[in-house]
Amino acid sequence: MSAPASSATAGSGANQAGSGPTSPSEAIGPPGPVERFFAACEAALRDGRFERLILAGYRGPEPDLKRVMVRAIELRGEPQLSFVYRHERRDLTRNLTQAQGLQTLRALLGTEFANAHLHTPEQALQLAFSRKGRATLRAGARDTAGVPLAPAVHNREKPRLLSLERPFLAALGVTDAQHRLVPAMARKWRQINKFLEIIDAAVKASPLAGQARIEVLDFGSGKGYLTFALHDHLRHALGRDARVTGVELRPELVALGNGIVDRLGLQGLRFEQGDVGRAVPRAVDVMIALHACDTATDHAMHRGIRGGAAIVCCAPCCHKQLRPQLLQPHPLRPILRHGVHLGQEAEMLTDGLRALLLDACGYDTQVFEFVSLEHTAKNKMVLAVKRAQPAAKEGLLAQLQEVKAFYGIREQCLETLLRADALI
Ligand SMILES: C[S@@+](CC[C@H](N)C(=O)[O-])C[C@H]1O[C@@H](n2cnc3c(N)ncnc32)[C@H](O)[C@@H]1O
Repeated sequence: MSAPASSATAGSGANQAGSGPTSPSEAIGPPGPVERFFAACEAALRDGRFERLILAGYRGPEPDLKRVMVRAIELRGEPQLSFVYRHERRDLTRNLTQAQGLQTLRALLGTEFANAHLHTPEQALQLAFSRKGRATLRAGARDTAGVPLAPAVHNREKPRLLSLERPFLAALGVTDAQHRLVPAMARKWRQINKFLEIIDAAVKASPLAGQARIEVLDFGSGKGYLTFALHDHLRHALGRDARVTGVELRPELVALGNGIVDRLGLQGLRFEQGDVGRAVPRAVDVMIALHACDTATDHAMHRGIRGGAAIVCCAPCCHKQLRPQLLQPHPLRPILRHGVHLGQEAEMLTDGLRALLLDACGYDTQVFEFVSLEHTAKNKMVLAVKRAQPAAKEGLLAQLQEVKAFYGIREQCLETLLRADALI
């Protein structure tokens, strides 16, 4: 297939169309449609507004190639463009640096593909080539490649709870010195904002709604994106006396976080080196643990429940504990014999049992998708908010035992920890 081949080849497309055959006047006049289109692509990549680009109107040699979809991604910390070549029955993916990707687009446009559609939150920009190679650029709200676009108003970025101007964002490399979003951090930025939306609503619906001082524990805080963001939101936007502690296994991340805290002179935020499994229980109002591996999530939930947290918020990561215990009960055997289904079942059961246990401890628990799968594969959230009146514990624990018996589950970490402390 010619399309995924190296970007540096095929100089017959938009490389030339922008200055040569497309419109002779462009060489001495203002930038032509091709250059304006690529300038828009580069600006969208720079500002984190590049949602997707679609190449359509294929006229190359492959009989079953339909279109190419391009997304901005981050691979090993480097911004890249991911090209998905959609064929009749298969997709081929190729990831390129942004410079290579833009070069590839220039090579393909006007040669193998007649149209390109760039989608940003504000608009859809279409570059189209006629058979004679004349380029036209149109801005609109409809994707003529056949992918329906939401009306412009729905397609616009939602107002964010967090401003790009907040100093910790630059210190963490989410924004640059001019407070512009670093393109490679666009997905992290969305994740941070989505997380704040969820916590903001939970705080307002919880016993913390009118409480001035709020103790927060973040287990497995990593580089501290969410720790800093929650601290900033509670203090700066909600005006609370927030005392936030990030607990992290890796000392270099703890030092990095504390270095930023000291440099920015932040009050009420500290990072501690520690293992959630060994953390001494302490009083806490909000316990968060995002992407803590396997049973580290159970330990974090347990510390939250034991510390009397009004909000327990976890995005569980890998789910290893239950999988080897799972039976394949009749009539699910033919379904669960596929390893992938067994893994999905283990994940669903782990988080389902955790939710039942949280409910039994007096919480109102929801399990839902946190950010779109498009942005991250780790997208499930378990959010528990303390109820004014606890639910009937016995009925919930009976349900828990029934599910465990059905699947042959002998041990679930959170249940073991809660029973050891007589919390259920
Ligand atoms: C995937 S990162 C998530 C970071 C952050 N919570 C986020 O979502 O952006 C998981 C972090 O948990 C830390 N970690 C893993 N096991 C831990 C444990 N038992 N106790 C404390 N931290 C742990 C890792 O070192 C890593 O920095």
